Amino acid sequence: MRFSNLITLALTGLVAADLATIQGEFTKIQAAVTNLDNSINGLTSSTDPTTAINTLVSQSNAVTDALNSGTTTVSATDDLSLTDSITLLSSSNSLVSAVNTTVTDLENKKSIVDAANADGTVVTQLQQQKTASQAFIAAVVSKVPSAAQSIANNQAQAVVTDLNNGIVFFGGSASKRAARALRV
Ligand SMILES: *[C@@H]1O[C@H](CO)[C@@H](O)[C@H](O)[C@H]1NC(C)=O
Repeated sequence: MRFSNLITLALTGLVAADLATIQGEFTKIQAAVTNLDNSINGLTSSTDPTTAINTLVSQSNAVTDALNSGTTTVSATDDLSLTDSITLLSSSNSLVSAVNTTVTDLENKKSIVDAANADGTVVTQLQQQKTASQAFIAAVVSKVPSAAQSIANNQAQAVVTDLNNGIVFFGGSASKRAARALRV
């Protein structure tokens, strides 16, 4: 194939299809996390507790759903090249940071969660997100060449650590079994 044809192929997106698909899933997950974070930040001590918790639950479920559908989609893609994996790092960096911000913001609203008597609900939601994150991470890591897997695993560990911090902060326990399951 002539070089110019290769360039055409790359520009039309055929070469980058799987990268684009996986990036698209990161974008959807990030959007769901951002929605959740915005709602968390919108909570005040005068928010009706039932309304507050219903909103948090439905937006947490949206994050879990985005992760689960991301897992299905990513599992069906071809493997990524090393270059694609490095490109994907910026998507995963920003998701790692969004999760950290969201859990921190949630922790800052603990008095409101307490007032709504909803710590247990929050723990359940965070645990669901952790399980869904681990499945999504495993799907992404399985598409990454071995040279990039330790970076991917470190990022994965950061997300799970943050979620575990939130779980413990709200009175749950970060089970060792779940932590071990992450080691791919
Ligand atoms: C956010 O990241 C910082 C730096 O890694 C860490 O110290 C902190 O515990 C994280 N926040 C949460 C809620 O896990």
